[in-house]
Amino acid sequence: MANETAISTANDTARNIGPVILLGPPGAGKGTQSKRIVDRYGVPQISTGDLLRDHVARGTELGLEAKSIMARGELVPDELMYGIVANRLREADCQRGFVLDGFPRTAAQAGWLDAFLEKEVFDKGSEKRSDKGSEYPQNCPPVVIQLLVDYTQLLLRLTGRRSCPACGRLYNIHFQPPLVDELCDVDGSKLVIRNDDREEVISGRLAAYETQTRLVTDYYRAQRRLVAINADRPVEEVTAQIFGVIDSHGNDSHGRVDTRSGTTTQS
Ligand code: AP5
Repeated sequence: MANETAISTANDTARNIGPVILLGPPGAGKGTQSKRIVDRYGVPQISTGDLLRDHVARGTELGLEAKSIMARGELVPDELMYGIVANRLREADCQRGFVLDGFPRTAAQAGWLDAFLEKEVFDKGSEKRSDKGSEYPQNCPPVVIQLLVDYTQLLLRLTGRRSCPACGRLYNIHFQPPLVDELCDVDGSKLVIRNDDREEVISGRLAAYETQTRLVTDYYRAQRRLVAINADRPVEEVTAQIFGVIDSHGNDSHGRVDTRSGTTTQS
């Protein structure tokens, strides 16, 4: 699969980009775009859905609790999320930045994240950063990017999604089919359908987004930190818009990035 937009330079993979938050309904392309940010900037993708699915697969206490909730398309309680996100953000590979895919999903999670970053990332990191002469601005808030996609398109994306259980590559039988039906282009593994991509669950997930995650966009919009982009475009075009937002971020620590084609800063 061509991924030319995601080709990185040495400068891209050396600089601090800080936290990047991708918001959007199920199927908006958060996972797809996160992987491209990882390729370009060399920062980790933190997908709370993947972290939870890993707990479910390993049969941990958390996984056992989350399994039925996820199967119904509902949100896992905030208190269970805080521990796994905090542990992941404390890992060393997050120091130059990270992409949050699927978190925060409630207004309470957004408030918790701000408090966590303030306490554990900005305060702790500022001394280290100035020692190293880093360009990452002190107390720079996360760049928050909202992916906007039409409802009918979301349904096609979710019902058509396939993924490789071995390497994690995403496909879509409608938009990005594998070269050979149902087999991964990279390693030939048989592609799988996610448990919650069944039609009867998809409507519940979209409803959960409408009622709870909308409040997250309201939260960031009120702080003038929300940048909405048209994600109802081919993958490469969406990636180019996202890179434009990330590259502009840090020029203005209040999150007012330049307005560009298809990209709006909301106030
Ligand atoms: P999670 O795994 O986060 O799922 P989601 O938010 O429902 O999002 P998806 O992974 O379904 O979609 P996506 O936006 O990543 O799209 P993708 O890139 O795959 O969460 C799963 C569950 O875990 C939740 O329901 C909840 O129970 C729980 N959970 C997770 N986080 C939680 C939290 N913070 N709090 C509480 N509970 C939590 O793309 C979809 C398809 O479209 C793919 O086939 C892709 O190839 C295709 N596609 C992507 N972009 C394009 C494009 N531009 N054009 C055409 N096709 C495209």
